[in-house]
Amino acid sequence: MSLFWRIFGLNAVVLGAATALLLWAPVTVSVPVVLTEAVVLVGGLVVMLVANAALLRIGLAPLDRLTQRMVTVDLLRPGHRLPVDGRGGVAVLLRTFNEMLDRLESERAASSARALSAQESERRRIARELHDEVGQSMTAVLLELKRAADRAPKDLRADLQHAQETTRQSLDEVRRIARRLRPGVLDDLGLTSALTALATDYATHTGLTVRCRCDSGPSDLGAAAELVVYRVAQEALTNTARHADARTVDLTLRRVPGAVVLEVRDDGRGMGRAREGAGIRGMRERALFIEAGLDIGPGPTGGLSVRLTVPLPREEGKAA
Ligand SMILES: Nc1ncnc2c1ncn2[C@@H]1O[C@H](COP(=O)(O)OP(=O)(O)OP(=O)(O)O)[C@@H](O)[C@H]1O
Ligand SMILES: [Mg+2]
Repeated sequence: MSLFWRIFGLNAVVLGAATALLLWAPVTVSVPVVLTEAVVLVGGLVVMLVANAALLRIGLAPLDRLTQRMVTVDLLRPGHRLPVDGRGGVAVLLRTFNEMLDRLESERAASSARALSAQESERRRIARELHDEVGQSMTAVLLELKRAADRAPKDLRADLQHAQETTRQSLDEVRRIARRLRPGVLDDLGLTSALTALATDYATHTGLTVRCRCDSGPSDLGAAAELVVYRVAQEALTNTARHADARTVDLTLRRVPGAVVLEVRDDGRGMGRAREGAGIRGMRERALFIEAGLDIGPGPTGGLSVRLTVPLPREEGKAA
């Protein structure tokens, strides 16, 4: 039924009931009106209005649900659809809305995938340039300094050795940044080693105790999914270091039937009412990209827990 006929029908029911009451009930209206008759008429009007409001509320409930969903819809949490029954105007509206969400979600997933792969290749390029250009020049400077220190008079030697030390630290920092930009260890040693190295790196540089328990063995996730797991772990650890006031973080990678689960859980103050920023939305986009589930919420013993569930490729899922 179209919206027009739906509203018209609801009003017709109420007005018809009122007319029937007037016809069959022993009601008389005098001119000028008598007080008791006025009370009966006003009472009747109130009943009619209440009945009309109740029927309209029930009749328009699907539209309320639609408005609610429009306000809360989030393309980074896909898959929520409105129930549709019947074939009338409202059902067509709901079905069209659901179809629009299908289209928007798949376009969003495609554009996120494009943006993420552009971002990763840009990071690879910067990492390569840092390593090959800046790293090489700094290594050359380091060698020059060493040669100069060897030949320098005693009073200059200490200064040159100090410069050498500073250059060495900067070189380490450049290498660390390059490694973060492009986790080469992921390609060379696999996900488990990459996560272990990441945990060690965070523990060293933030003072947090990072307990890494990663199931060893091949994860069979594929390169794209492994990179997503790594990046989510990286952002979750960065967030813990920046916002959580935590002392300990547990980083776990578990294999469960049909999936691999990454969990980063801290013992800090939790997210409270903080709003999600670019970091968490980036995690959601990455999860969407590989059709993984991402749950962010309080941990069982306080703090924050970030859990990424990556489904294994289909044949793998069956075998598991
Ligand atoms: N482990 C955590 N413990 C407590 N609060 C957290 C934690 N992780 C995130 N938050 C809160 O959630 C907010 C959003 O995090 P998000 O990573 O999206 O953005 P951000 O870290 O502020 O900025 P960036 O875009 O650089 O990541 C943070 O500002 C912080 O208030
Ligand atoms: Mg962040």
